[in-house]
Amino acid sequence: MAYQWDSSLETGYEKIDNQHKQLISALNDIIEASISGKGSDEVFKTLDFLTGYTIMHFADEEKLQIQYDYPDYFTHKHYHDEFKATVKALTERLVKEGPTGEMVELVTTSIGNWLLNHIKGDDFRMAAYVKTHSKKQ
Ligand SMILES: [Fe+2]
Ligand SMILES: [Fe+2]
Repeated sequence: MAYQWDSSLETGYEKIDNQHKQLISALNDIIEASISGKGSDEVFKTLDFLTGYTIMHFADEEKLQIQYDYPDYFTHKHYHDEFKATVKALTERLVKEGPTGEMVELVTTSIGNWLLNHIKGDDFRMAAYVKTHSKKQ
C-alpha cells in the first residue's frame, strides 16, 4: 500500500476522519489497479471514484464550515476548487497520454501530496475551530 492513514492525519472530527480514510483508500485503489495490470478501464474507474468522493467530501466540509461560520471558509473553499481543477487537468492528461505506470505515479503522487498537506494544515485548523465552537451543534 502506497499511502497509509495514521494518527498524524486524525483531525478528531469523526465524520471527516472517516472520509479522509476513504480518500486514502481510494487513492491506493488507483495504484493497485495500475500495478495489478487489470487494464486502463480499472485505472479510470478507480480515479473516477476518487474524483466523485473528493467532490462529496469537499461539499461536506464546506457545509460544516458554513454551519459554524468558519472565518476561513472562502480560503478553504478556494483550495478545494483549485484542487478539483487540478484533478480534472491530471485526468485529462492521463486520458491523452494513457495510464502508463509513470503517468499513474505522477497523478497519484500529486493527489496524495496535496491531500496529506491539506488534511494536516487546512483541515486540522477547520476541525479545531469546529470542535471549540461545537455548542451550536
Ligand atoms: Fe478534508
Ligand atoms: Fe478541506
